[in-house]
Amino acid sequence: MITKGIILSGGSGTRMYPTTSAVSKQFLPIFDKPMIYYPLTTLIQSGIRDILIICTQNDIDLFKRLLGSGSQWGLNFSYEIQKNPNGIAEAFIIGEKFISGQKVALILGDNIIYGATIQTMLSDLASNHKGASIFGYEVSDPERYGVAGFDDNGILTSIEEKPLRPKSNFAITGLYFYESEVVEIAKGLKPSKRGELEITDINNIFLKNNQLHFHRFYPGSAWLDAGTSESLLSASEFISTLQDRQGILIGSPELAALENGWISKEDIKNFFGSNIKSNYTMQILRRI
Ligand code: TTP
Repeated sequence: MITKGIILSGGSGTRMYPTTSAVSKQFLPIFDKPMIYYPLTTLIQSGIRDILIICTQNDIDLFKRLLGSGSQWGLNFSYEIQKNPNGIAEAFIIGEKFISGQKVALILGDNIIYGATIQTMLSDLASNHKGASIFGYEVSDPERYGVAGFDDNGILTSIEEKPLRPKSNFAITGLYFYESEVVEIAKGLKPSKRGELEITDINNIFLKNNQLHFHRFYPGSAWLDAGTSESLLSASEFISTLQDRQGILIGSPELAALENGWISKEDIKNFFGSNIKSNYTMQILRRI
């Protein structure tokens, strides 16, 4: 069972300069809530309550102000600083004490995963997890991402980081599940040509050991990373349209924690207090 999760929310956000020169992109709104609410909700949907937020020195106090201890959602938050954006795999070195020899999930702070079957898929997997799991999503521009390659039987054979000639259209998304040995593997990595500790190198080690499992998010689900101004806008439009047309609320830690039975309707009302005038709170209060 996976009980621990990390949200990696540092980075330099150079593709969104000047918007990100004062604050990290994970505070920016995706329509009606801060970006980090979405990966947080994905961890809750996976059944994970013990969560480490890794961010820059500059942002740590702001993250604490936004998210607090996590108790309002029945969660337990820890915070750590990543001094420089040394790569996604550094999360496991920074998080070693937090992980303390247990299985762990990692999600990137700018990843949005949505789908009617996602909660069942992730919570089932997390409750009985072995080895390493990565999640693929079919895209039209795979060369921008880590890309999965398969043999004729559909078995995963390779993962390549931003390949010039992608072997498939399956991008590897920013959600990963691992055994605790991921910490030692991360410590043994050397920085890549671009000077980062690469998550793809970790996945290739699990692949070599026949311990890497590939899962796909099926059409009807959505995976968005909101790393550029264009993708931020289209993510906002997507969430707004879907919520409006389907009468749902995506990326709400309150509703996800309520569904898991970790908090009550009363807890939510008390937490909102007098902050009841936003569209977000009204959408929740209407549902409970
Ligand atoms: P990236 O999009 O790779 O990097 P970035 O956010 O710094 O943006 P840019 O390319 O515009 O400079 O990061 C993906 C996510 O992972 C994002 O949420 C930030 C996070 N991240 C870290 O927290 N630390 C790191 O060392 C890296 C590489 C990424």
